[in-house]
Parts: sequence; C-alpha cells; structure tokens
Amino acid sequence: MHNKMLKELLGVNHRIIQAPMAGGITTPELAAQVSENGGLGMIAGGGLPPEKVKEAIRRTRKLTGKTFGVNLFVPMTFEVTETQVQKAYERLRPVHDEFGLKQADITPPRYEEAVHKFNDQIGTVIEAGVPVCSFIFGVPADVQMERLKEAGIITIATATTAEEAVAIESAGIDIVVVQGFEAGGHRGAFLKGSEDSQVGLMSLLSETVSRVNIPIVAAGGIMHGRNIAAALVLGAAGVQMGTAFLSVEESGAHNLHKNVLTESLNVPAVLTKLFTGRQARAVKNKFISEFKAFEEEMVAYPVQRSLTQAFQDASKAAGRIDYAMLLAGQGKYFARDLSARQLIEALAAETSEMGYEI
Ligand SMILES: Cc1cc2nc3c(=O)[nH]c(=O)nc-3n(C[C@H](O)[C@H](O)[C@H](O)COP(=O)(O)O)c2cc1C
Repeated sequence: MHNKMLKELLGVNHRIIQAPMAGGITTPELAAQVSENGGLGMIAGGGLPPEKVKEAIRRTRKLTGKTFGVNLFVPMTFEVTETQVQKAYERLRPVHDEFGLKQADITPPRYEEAVHKFNDQIGTVIEAGVPVCSFIFGVPADVQMERLKEAGIITIATATTAEEAVAIESAGIDIVVVQGFEAGGHRGAFLKGSEDSQVGLMSLLSETVSRVNIPIVAAGGIMHGRNIAAALVLGAAGVQMGTAFLSVEESGAHNLHKNVLTESLNVPAVLTKLFTGRQARAVKNKFISEFKAFEEEMVAYPVQRSLTQAFQDASKAAGRIDYAMLLAGQGKYFARDLSARQLIEALAAETSEMGYEI
C-alpha cells in the first residue's frame, strides 16, 4: 500500500529519491536526469542563500518538466564563545600554515540569521511552486508547516531513530526518510545527540515500521538493487541514495572525491565532527587521523565549518585528499562510474532480479 502511496505522493515512476548533497554535488543536471528517468531528483538548497535556491530551481526546470524537490536544513541553536573559536583555530593553525593560508574569517554566524534565511528559503520554494520539500536536522516550526501545507507541498523529514520518526509524523510531515548509521554525509539527529542516534538501517527500519504510519524511505548504504530489495522486505516504501549518485557523471563532486570511492577500497568511511562540528561520515584521511584526539576542542556546527573551509578548498585545489571533506557512506565499495540514467536502469534490473520492482 505504501509503495503506491509513495509514488503517488511524489509523482514519480520509481521509488528512488536521489539524496540531496550540499556543496555543489547535486547539480541541476543530476537532479533533472534522475527525474527524467523516473526517480525523484533533489536540489540541495540547505547551504544556499534563497536567491541561489531560486536559481537552482530555474535551471533544473529548464532541463526537466518532471517533478523534483528541494532540501533545506532546519536551523539548530548552538553555543560557541570567541575563546573556544580562537582555541580551535590555534589547534588547526598548522594546517593553514601548510597551505599558506591567512587566518580564516571566524565571525560566528548567528542563529537568528539562520532562522531568517530558512524562512526565506521556504518562501522561495513556495513561490516557485516546487511540489516536494525535504528537511534534515529537525522539522519546521508549526507556522512554517502551515505555510507548506497551504501551498500543497509534500514534505519529507529525516529521522535517525524511531523516536525522531514518531516526532516527524506528529508534526504533520508526509514522508519520513530513516537515515541508518551506514549513511554518508551529516547525521540528521535532532532529538538526542548524534552519538546516541546511531542505529543501523536494519534495526531502524524495523522499529520505525512498527511505530509510524506515514511512508518510510530507507537511506544509508543503499548502493545496489539487492539493498533496495532488502529495504522493501523490511517495510520501506522507497529508498534515498546519496553515495551511489555521488559517483555518477552528472554529479558535481570533485574528481578527487569520485576517485577516492573506487580507489581507496580498504579505507573506511568514518564518523567525524572535525570538518563542520556535526558528526558526518567521510572517507578517513590524514586530517581525520591526525586531529581525532582534538575533536572535543573543536567548536559547534556550523561555526567549525568556517574554520576548516579554506584548507578543505586548498587541499582539493592542490589535488590532495589529505585535508578535504570526502563524505561517503559505508556502501562506497559499490560506487559506479555510470550516468544517472544507466545507474537507475541497473538498479531497476538488479531489484527485479530479486523479485521486486523499483
Ligand atoms: C556528499 C553527501 C552530501 C549530503 N548532503 C546532504 C544534504 O545536503 N541534505 C540532506 O538531507 N542529506 C544530505 N546527505 C545525506 C543523504 O541524504 C543520505 O542520508 C545519505 O546519503 C544516505 O546514505 P548513502 O550515502 O550511503 O546513500 C548527504 C550525503 C552525502 C554522501
């Protein structure tokens, strides 16, 4: 029943959502190609100012007449003092020195500004008439939910525990994405700390299926039709895939990022707070190993990001993976060098071999 409901709700032929991936990875070309081939293409709007979200929507619309969605970050409060920022910066100074970088701009962004930006991003999605809007790091406030509902927008939110999925359903969200421990990128935990929200997809799906009635989309380590079939067996209505789409031709991921997936087969994708202040799963590199001992000296999301962004960029520009943030899930072994269309076709065939349709 949920399968049909999910496809109808999203207006798609296949129950595959291409995960929104911030940082220029999910290009309009990628989102459009996924939608053109029956899945749901997603624009990663979270880090973008409203006018850039508008621009991405416009560019995607030029490439497809099919349904696609926009993803936004629910702002979270944070506490960071100037002293903590200075201390963290001092700890990171050797990396800046290695790349010849001057002291980064460490004016902490303000929470109130993030809330204002979030409101404007929602306004942009509504004005543009985008049919689907997904969220990570929480659920929008009641007033924002009302605006979205009034506009007839289908809402999706991310849960890392069954408890979060229950909260998402209670908030009136239409679809929940359950993000297993395997997942690449930032942990979406919002009720308890990320450390207390690390449930593997198999357990997370089973528990969530027992506790909520809205359609559940499985995410985390889904790279192959076999994974899709397994998620469907466990009661998922569909899947959301990030790392699998990261390596496709239309993805805007840096070549270093794409190559590391296929070349560093025996390097694990680990959880770290070092890049942004929030736990995220990334391919282990020199920075993660060297600074692991100092993780607690680093500052909260999103301030930590402004302390590391300059050397992340410099590392990539120098063709070095050492200090770059290479987000990826535990299923990275199965990353494929295909076009989005070829990947979706392969997934459809593999899932069908297991006796299921995508
Ligand atoms: C590079 C990268 C960037 C991501 N950026 C976002 C984002 O902007 N918004 C979001 O909701 N999820 C983001 N995610 C998480 C995905 O939505 C999803 O939970 C995850 O990719 C699933 O695990 P998988 O990578 O093993 O498929 C990102 C994941 C990756 C790998």
